[in-house]
Amino acid sequence: MRVDVISIFPDYLAALDLSLVGKARAAGIIDLRVHDLRTWTSDRHRTVDDTPFGGGAGMVMRPDVWGRAIDAVTGRDTGTGHDAEVPVHLVVPTPSGATFTQRTAEALAGEEHLVVACGRYEGIDARVAEHYRAAGVRVSELSIGDYVLNGGEVAALVVVEAVARLLPGVVGNPESLVEESHGAAGLLEYPVYTKPPAWEGLEVPDVLLSGHHARIHRWRRDEALRRTVARRPDMVGALDPATLDAHDLAVLAEEGWHPHGGRLERSDGC
Ligand code: ADE
Repeated sequence: MRVDVISIFPDYLAALDLSLVGKARAAGIIDLRVHDLRTWTSDRHRTVDDTPFGGGAGMVMRPDVWGRAIDAVTGRDTGTGHDAEVPVHLVVPTPSGATFTQRTAEALAGEEHLVVACGRYEGIDARVAEHYRAAGVRVSELSIGDYVLNGGEVAALVVVEAVARLLPGVVGNPESLVEESHGAAGLLEYPVYTKPPAWEGLEVPDVLLSGHHARIHRWRRDEALRRTVARRPDMVGALDPATLDAHDLAVLAEEGWHPHGGRLERSDGC
């Protein structure tokens, strides 16, 4: 996969040289290139922003600078880029985007070329997304959560890491992708333990030391259900009761959740 990240703070993206993403780059699994947006400015102050039409606080990033940057990294400027054959997906991190989830990461992991456009200030002139959509480019404006960051760079780190770890060969043991939180089961992950078996007076649950695989599997699933009830009731509400077995339903009933009309509901109606 090729990924181009464009930012006025390219140093922010240095973290992508580390850990699994750094190794994936070194191994050639991901061809990640970070660009300074100011490369495509045309004045001696290297201006990337201007005041908003209609008034209001802050500055807006200029569409002409972004257009030159995106055309250059996708080869649209010269017609020599590999995008003549490979479709590009433009990702624009913004607090006003659709929520970035594990499903979004899975979809993006199937793409061949991502361009991540990191905005600053009040954001990027809205015509940039409009122009590339009209040109047939897939454009995803994505928020990593309901809070406001100073720019798209941290969100770009989040998106690139979440996507890169799904590419074959990036995570050493692909099984660790199977049971984790936000996987297909729609549950948070169960609690995990390692040595020593007793620490600060706290013991690892006996079942995990039993070697009894079926019981361990059942215990983990129960804990995943309980944890999801306690921390993310919205995820319990999204479960399809038809995918749950009788034991699952008994655990959920203990926690006050019951199937009703093809969904799970809290017995107190909340
Ligand atoms: N830029 C600023 N805040 C953001 C957020 N929450 N998600 C994505 N990009 C952002």
